[in-house]
Amino acid sequence: MGYQDQYQQSLQNKEQFWATQADAIAWYKQPRQILTEADYGTHRWFADGELNSCYLALDYNVEQGRGEQVALYYDSPATGSKRAISYNQLLADVKRYAGALKAQGIEKGDRVVIYMPMVPEAAVAMLACARLGAIHSVVFGGFAPNELAIRIDDAEPKMVITASCGIEFDKVIEYKPLVDQAFELATHKPDHCVVLQRPMAKAAMQPGRDLDWQQFQEGGRYADCVAVESTHPLYILYTSGTTGKPKGIVRDNGSHAVALMYALRNVYGMNAGDVWWGASDIGWVVGHSFIVYGPLMGGCSAIFYEGKPIRSPDAGAFWRVIDEYKVNSMFAAPTAFRAIRKEDPEGALAKKYDLSSLRWLFVAGEKLDSSTYSWLDELLGVPVIDHWWQTETGWPMTAPLMGVEPVATRMGSTCVPVPGFDIQVLDPAGNALGADQHGNIVARLPMPPGVAQTIWNNPQRFQESYLSAFPGYYHTGDGGFKDKDGYVYITGRTDDVINVSGHRLSTGEMEEVIAKNPAVAECAVIAVADEMKGHVPVGLVVLKQGVEIDEGELEQELVALVRAEVGPLACFRKAVVVQRLPKTRSGKILRAILRKIADQEEYAMPSTIDDESILPEITETMKGAGVGR
Ligand code: COA
Ligand code: AMP
Repeated sequence: MGYQDQYQQSLQNKEQFWATQADAIAWYKQPRQILTEADYGTHRWFADGELNSCYLALDYNVEQGRGEQVALYYDSPATGSKRAISYNQLLADVKRYAGALKAQGIEKGDRVVIYMPMVPEAAVAMLACARLGAIHSVVFGGFAPNELAIRIDDAEPKMVITASCGIEFDKVIEYKPLVDQAFELATHKPDHCVVLQRPMAKAAMQPGRDLDWQQFQEGGRYADCVAVESTHPLYILYTSGTTGKPKGIVRDNGSHAVALMYALRNVYGMNAGDVWWGASDIGWVVGHSFIVYGPLMGGCSAIFYEGKPIRSPDAGAFWRVIDEYKVNSMFAAPTAFRAIRKEDPEGALAKKYDLSSLRWLFVAGEKLDSSTYSWLDELLGVPVIDHWWQTETGWPMTAPLMGVEPVATRMGSTCVPVPGFDIQVLDPAGNALGADQHGNIVARLPMPPGVAQTIWNNPQRFQESYLSAFPGYYHTGDGGFKDKDGYVYITGRTDDVINVSGHRLSTGEMEEVIAKNPAVAECAVIAVADEMKGHVPVGLVVLKQGVEIDEGELEQELVALVRAEVGPLACFRKAVVVQRLPKTRSGKILRAILRKIADQEEYAMPSTIDDESILPEITETMKGAGVGR
């Protein structure tokens, strides 16, 4: 079936279409119920099926004769180490680790928080949880203790798994003191913290609570896979919403496995034995779907890279990895290529390597600018494919089906809707918009398998966040349009979520942190275009009446505060004092206008604005402070 046939089938005959896709995975109990309605306007896929995601990723591949094939190539320019880990080896490691978890009382449904750098042990921990039916929640290493504590309080894990350190270029970042601080800040106290001691830093251990990674496993027994219901959660992954409290996106086991197998084969065109590289981090959804679960379930050899695109040791790091492991396809964020291009504009380093194994390159996570696209296109001579997805969906919503019938890509577009996603563009009142008309991008319900159907402990919030704005549709939070041929163009978020280096952050959350400073009356954090990182946050701050403060000092305080409370990944480096903020008559800050002023774009004066005179004034202040282009 070509793309059009698959797409039509997936919408008109969805149960049959997805029942067929479900046959591609080895269930313990084959589902008979394909699609059922659930609470809060959500749906369940394959509700009566039973399976185990770790079995599909490891045991199944060994049973299929792939035991000696490499499952993970760990490549770490950060530490100068490399390891090729076979499916047999990874399975043995995971069985042992799952046995150790079980011995500590971790069982089906228990939560385990994983705060680790890109070491293969992190994948072992994730898969071991999956093996037992325990629910992992991976937290990206760039988040501060406060953010980790918020996630611990929400997920209420029995255990936290960490490493003594991560490495950022040549800096050793000690993780354990951050975890200790998070334990102090959190109200919920996990029973144990398991620590992988790395040679670059030795973590201090708290007797009784902390367990050494190696000793933890000694003398342990192997654990077998626990059969779980299709709808049983595999993981919780926190992502930024519009408020200070992150959303715990819950991924189930069954529909996730079906969706990943479908995407791996059809969207990414990867077969068993192919070499795949998801150049991201296990702390993000890409890391879950396409560093760990997807490529392993599909019998691929996956690259597990602990390094950066540049200075690792040079900007040829990505090209070296493609050549060394004969990577067939990869995924990376545009920021990574902007960074490479800045250091090596002529692509001289790429020409040193044999990149002939690469069939195509996928990018996502943030907007792919046309100049980076053209640079990559010319340099690599293979399709450079922009595609679009979110933590919530877990797999692409728009993309070409490279494994089926590659459709032509179009500059600026993230391509056509993937089977299962009925993408529409609506005006604020919910009316369908025509070709090239800009509006809210939504997907008609039910969403296909793999898409989250709830927020941890808060199904109402899921309903309010995604299903209430446009009844009958999932609200993506992105704005954009479709052209006359159905190609989708994403122009940016319609809410207060921003993307910094492809990392999703909430401006609302930063505003809450900034507001803690005693000098601050109110503030707005806006995303301002950045040549390398796509966007960076900038704070516009109104001081409390009567406060006299050196603005430079205040900026330093606020930068330090956001770094301490949100984390270095926020890249919050600029705060500007303004007299007033533009608001509607009902008191809502007009952030969209502020963004436009910063980016020196045209804007229409909103009819709801409280006081028009404020805009020229704030434009001058922002210009004077060098905010924006
Ligand atoms: N653990 C601890 N700290 C981390 C971290 C981690 N896992 N990841 C990032 N940080 C820190 C960095 O050290 C940096 O700290 P600093 O302010 O002390 O220098 C800060 O967070 C910002 O990091 P980053 O935005 O990554 O900037 P950078 O200048 O260190 O690196 C790039 C620039 C372009 C090399 C890097 O941003 C990059 O590789 N981008 C691609 C991102 C990506 O793959 N996203 C995919 C998401 S799907
Ligand atoms: P995350 O949940 O971290 O994966 O971030 C998802 C958000 O990133 C989306 O809602 C978009 O705003 C943005 N995004 C993802 N892919 C693209 C893309 N290809 N082009 C533009 N924005 C993208």
